[in-house]
Amino acid sequence: MDIRTGLGWDNHRIATERALILGGVTVPSEFGLDGHSDADVLSHAITDALLGAAALGDIGMHFPDSDARWKGCDSLVFLRQAVELVHAQGFTILNVDSTVILERPKLKDFRRSIRESLASALSLDLDRVSVKFKTAEKVGPVGEGRSAEAQAVVTIIRD
Ligand code: C5P
Ligand code: MG
Repeated sequence: MDIRTGLGWDNHRIATERALILGGVTVPSEFGLDGHSDADVLSHAITDALLGAAALGDIGMHFPDSDARWKGCDSLVFLRQAVELVHAQGFTILNVDSTVILERPKLKDFRRSIRESLASALSLDLDRVSVKFKTAEKVGPVGEGRSAEAQAVVTIIRD
């Protein structure tokens, strides 16, 4: 058995007049995240974890932010493409675990819908997709409400 693990991390600046999109779900918030695409920090971290597990480079290599095609893009497009690339190498995705670090708003009421959205994009059962939330305890750029971070780990397998 060829079992591999991939790690992903991402960070986006908080901005007014932007939507807060996490795992493809728009969360009601008085601010959002800045970025070339829709700035879905969670989907970006999971995309990098998938690419990392199969040693296929990173999100910026596949979807450069200099490319006008990805301006304002739904980041689930990146995620689905990374899933296809991993599948094309003969891998099955076993599970995804992730953490969003954001001071506010409270995200736990959106856990179910974010997991469902990600599970659909990943073609995984819901019990294989985990999303956790943390504050940064008011410390550092995340804690001061200037940015949001996400971390992800994925495991993939092939015979
Ligand atoms: O960061 P802290 O340990 O204080 O977070 C406690 C809990 O609050 C987390 O386990 C999570 O369920 C929830 N949380 C949340 N939305 C956030 C941050 C934390 O729902 N933005
Ligand atoms: Mg990003």
